[in-house]
Amino acid sequence: MLGHDRIDAETYHRDIVPGLLIGAPGERAAVGLAGLEPLGMRIGDAAWTYRADGARLRIVEGVADDASCVVRLSPDAWTDLVTLLRTAAALAIAGEVRAERGSLLDLFAWEPVLRALYQGIEIYLPSGPQVRDRHGRVVDPAAELTLDHTDAQLADHFDATGVMRVRGVFSAAEIAVFEAEVDRLAAEAVPGDDRSWWAESEHGDAVLCRIVYASERSAPIAALARDPRLVRLATLLHEDLAASTDRMEGISILLKPPGRLKGLANIPWHTDCGLGGHHILCPSVAIGIQLTGSSAETGYLEAIAGSHGRTCPQPAPEAYPNLPYLTVPTEPGDVTVHVADVLHASPAPAGEGGRRTMYVTYHPPTLFEHVGPGEAVNDLIRSRTAGEVEAGLGL
Ligand SMILES: [Fe+2]
Repeated sequence: MLGHDRIDAETYHRDIVPGLLIGAPGERAAVGLAGLEPLGMRIGDAAWTYRADGARLRIVEGVADDASCVVRLSPDAWTDLVTLLRTAAALAIAGEVRAERGSLLDLFAWEPVLRALYQGIEIYLPSGPQVRDRHGRVVDPAAELTLDHTDAQLADHFDATGVMRVRGVFSAAEIAVFEAEVDRLAAEAVPGDDRSWWAESEHGDAVLCRIVYASERSAPIAALARDPRLVRLATLLHEDLAASTDRMEGISILLKPPGRLKGLANIPWHTDCGLGGHHILCPSVAIGIQLTGSSAETGYLEAIAGSHGRTCPQPAPEAYPNLPYLTVPTEPGDVTVHVADVLHASPAPAGEGGRRTMYVTYHPPTLFEHVGPGEAVNDLIRSRTAGEVEAGLGL
């Protein structure tokens, strides 16, 4: 996978950072400073403290006494953080960032500000539950869309929301074929086969929660990559996106087993570039083909509509009324469509569970240039146990 030449932290902080601070990146970073305590970063043998100074971000050399969180990372790890090749979460999982004072959760809280400063990515701030499209019209993120809408209608909607549900894309007969294929692949999956993700039940049993590279072992599933209905929805905004079947886990199948589970069966608020590779991955479009349909009881997709292209801090439930917070219930044959970097979640089922969704993801050319066959950003997660991931993230 793509690597960057090491960025020298001392040169960067001396020669680059002052310009960033007084320019647009500094302004964008300042937006996210509320509530952040000073952060100390030790990079190799040098150190800096990042802090709010009134309404601006200020960075000074050394670790200040009042830095409530001090993290240590290698020059290579910090280079990955600056370039967004890997995020703080990815470095934490890999054990390449350590909190010497405070907790890594404090570093995660700083990350929107760091992304704004280093890469100029805006921070998403709540401005009420409304979303508007590029024509200034109010958009209902939960609108009932179908393939009968025009490309322009669908594109306007998707551009504004970054997430949408399209009803009735696949027939009951088509879904029955996919269900049979998923039954077969699920029966073949075993822990450690490098083609599946497993969670842990309360009793310590391994429970299948994801099948990856399903496109390698099923002709009907592989054919979805070129299905004209999906290609149309995936390329509404960017014509050059193409489905990946031999990398990035190919076509994958999400299973929501019932019961209380440990591990990655249910995924809290995230973006699909949440471990890194934003510049390579985005604006990928993931299409979720709903085999069982989804509801609160079986576990459905949640999203903050319109948060794509920016860094959206993790919302607390009490903030939902002031956000375009969207739940996406579906019927079998519906599809969900989301941009990789819209903030979304796959919460635990409130009831029985049992949802099944197939994901076909369409990537930009940069992905194919930098991620080879068989590679995926998620490899980092899949190769570690649930306990290791949770320990790395400080949970
Ligand atoms: Fe996701």
